[in-house]
Amino acid sequence: MTINDLIKQLFIAFSKKDDDSFYELAEEIINLEKRKKHNILAKELKEALYNSDNFNVRTKRNYRINKPIPRDNDSGFPLVDVKKYNYLDWEQLILPENIKYELEQIINGYRSKEVLATYNLAPKLKYLFCGLPGTGKTYSVKILSSIMNLPLVYVNFDAIISSYLGETASNLRKVFEFIKDDNWIVLFDEVDIIGKNRDDQHESGEIKRVVNNFLQMIDNYNGESIIIAATNHPHILDPAIWRRFDEVIIFELPRKKEREKIIKLYLQTIKKDKNITLDYFVKETEGFSPSDIKTMCQDAVIHSVVNGRDVLSLDDLDYSLKKFKLRLKQQGK
Ligand SMILES: Nc1ncnc2c1ncn2[C@@H]1O[C@H](COP(=O)(O)OP(=O)(O)OP(=O)(O)O)[C@@H](O)[C@H]1O
Ligand SMILES: [Mg+2]
Repeated sequence: MTINDLIKQLFIAFSKKDDDSFYELAEEIINLEKRKKHNILAKELKEALYNSDNFNVRTKRNYRINKPIPRDNDSGFPLVDVKKYNYLDWEQLILPENIKYELEQIINGYRSKEVLATYNLAPKLKYLFCGLPGTGKTYSVKILSSIMNLPLVYVNFDAIISSYLGETASNLRKVFEFIKDDNWIVLFDEVDIIGKNRDDQHESGEIKRVVNNFLQMIDNYNGESIIIAATNHPHILDPAIWRRFDEVIIFELPRKKEREKIIKLYLQTIKKDKNITLDYFVKETEGFSPSDIKTMCQDAVIHSVVNGRDVLSLDDLDYSLKKFKLRLKQQGK
């Protein structure tokens, strides 16, 4: 589409109150400007589009589905939560290039379904995301859901196994039954049970059954959704478990280069004092997860704002860094 067509369609989407088309068209205009190397304009357009008060409301919506959500028989709790993420930005996910490349391959593979079929091949659909807490496993899945325009079926593994262990197989079956006919990204989040309690004599029999059950259902799944299991448990690095997935992606703590980008990302909302040398903070945050860095940066911004300043000072950052380090120390990290 030419820019004229895009603007016309944008107006039509606006008058029809068609939010989805409006944002898609607006994104297309931004990308067009980027391709023309009008980077400043593209950035300004993006800010104008997303920095409104409404933005957070728009990024996540409950997704209307035309079948009942599966529930735990005993507690009645829903076993899945279906969400549609929109307009989450790939650029806001800061990971080493090789990991981002792997995530891109998930998207490319999925989009190449038809071409692969001509080679008698199917796209990879089963992934295991592994890594320390706060390294972006869940966040990456939300971003994939947004970019691929696929609703996210979020399965909290804890809810699946919370009641009687005996109910677990039935709960898992219900979830797989629920996802079987549609195209989703399905996230089995915090499947840490797979690696936990292996040496616990009392529990290990039950746990093993649950794990085997889950792995078997993953094995048998031959639908068209992308299935991702996420865990921060290191024991998962067991080849017997790896084998069941098409790919295993390991999320590591950010190195210097990523830490710098993450600090800049989460401090971008406020003007910064000229005295601030980010290098110092990049160095001092070694061992921090992206989530830790985000919290530290947000704390610094809050500290500045609540004390009546609209320019972030070195003291604000130093204050939040020290506080955060103390907290990590108290947690024994
Ligand atoms: N790589 C990243 N780049 C930018 N922001 C990140 C990144 N990783 C995490 N964050 C921020 O930290 C928040 C928490 O991260 P997330 O929930 O994805 O961690 P996780 O790896 O799933 O941790 P857990 O193992 O505890 O579930 C995210 O919502 C996001 O705001
Ligand atoms: Mg998570």
